[in-house]
Amino acid sequence: MKGIILHGGKGTRLRPLTHTGPKQLIKVGGKPISQWGIENLIRYGITDIAIVLGNNYPEKVVEYYGDGSSLGAHFTYIYQGEARGLAEAIYRCKEFVDGDRFVVHLGDNIVQHGLEVLVNSTDESAVLLAKVDEPSRYGIAVVDGNKIVKLVEKPKEFLSDLALVGVYSFSPHIFDIIESLKPSKRKELEITEAIEKIIIEGKTIGFSEVDGWWKDTGTPEDMLSANMRILDFSTDYDTKGTVEASKIEGRVFLGKDSKITNSTVRGPVYIGDGTVVENSFIGSYTSIGGACHISGSELTNSIVLDSSTVSDSNLNGSIIGFKCTIKRNNEKPAGSRMITGEGTSIYI
Ligand code: TTP
Repeated sequence: MKGIILHGGKGTRLRPLTHTGPKQLIKVGGKPISQWGIENLIRYGITDIAIVLGNNYPEKVVEYYGDGSSLGAHFTYIYQGEARGLAEAIYRCKEFVDGDRFVVHLGDNIVQHGLEVLVNSTDESAVLLAKVDEPSRYGIAVVDGNKIVKLVEKPKEFLSDLALVGVYSFSPHIFDIIESLKPSKRKELEITEAIEKIIIEGKTIGFSEVDGWWKDTGTPEDMLSANMRILDFSTDYDTKGTVEASKIEGRVFLGKDSKITNSTVRGPVYIGDGTVVENSFIGSYTSIGGACHISGSELTNSIVLDSSTVSDSNLNGSIIGFKCTIKRNNEKPAGSRMITGEGTSIYI
């Protein structure tokens, strides 16, 4: 069985983080969001994987993943360019799929749940469903007994609280259906509409309700919540760095050549390779990338991406991009001095 990872899209809700790369490459718990999905496919023996690329620095995706051999997989890159919808992205993989059943995993979704129903189903399509608080944000399924009877993309009125999780499986018949789709109001070919057409054809959609958790990381809040979940379930805790005059409590991952001095680190926490933490408190649910420098600071429930510096500052619920500097201004006149990009949010 083949796999497809959707790595395109615009990522507008995650600006300014997505001004310099796709959202799926934002690292949480030491790995890009999309790598958690790719490893999920690999766990189910799906190693022949197409990665669909968008317009937002697609070369960074190729540079990071290469041919896939480091993960024990084989990657084929397929260029979608402009985001014309999930169904359009999938259609571009028709030749790659070459007549087999296949699984599609959105590159910004994290699912801690078995994909068995998707891999084992013989239905034209199989999906995972999860209960959500805001159904109007998602593709929604109406279930009657053990059958999906209707699917609606972002319904304005309440129909059901069961959302389509961003992992699906299809038979190649889906390509015929996609050919018959018209662009929606948001000018995209909608995968929810394609699956709804399978129902209209009188065929059954296999499904299973997610009993673990699922996270769509489209917004900063979603990203922080995914960080929390990943640090909770990740079992890869290890101390490869150096610890001096410091307290390490709970599950803490310290990458190689990292150095913790005069600090307290209270897990679950991830700290990447070559990062220095001094005179600081790193609290639960914090992911710090590689080559960062944290000094005189308190960080909790936050994500700091590679090569950033935080000094004499307290951060909670924050996402700091790659190569950023957060520093207390000790000069006169006092006050915050900022150089911010489009879409930045600052709460002082
Ligand atoms: P979305 O989060 O729906 O879209 P987006 O990435 O454009 O984000 P925003 O709304 O903030 O601008 O996309 C879901 C996933 O599917 C995500 O991993 C990106 C991917 N995708 C594609 O690969 N091609 C597409 O045409 C679209 C719309 C999304």
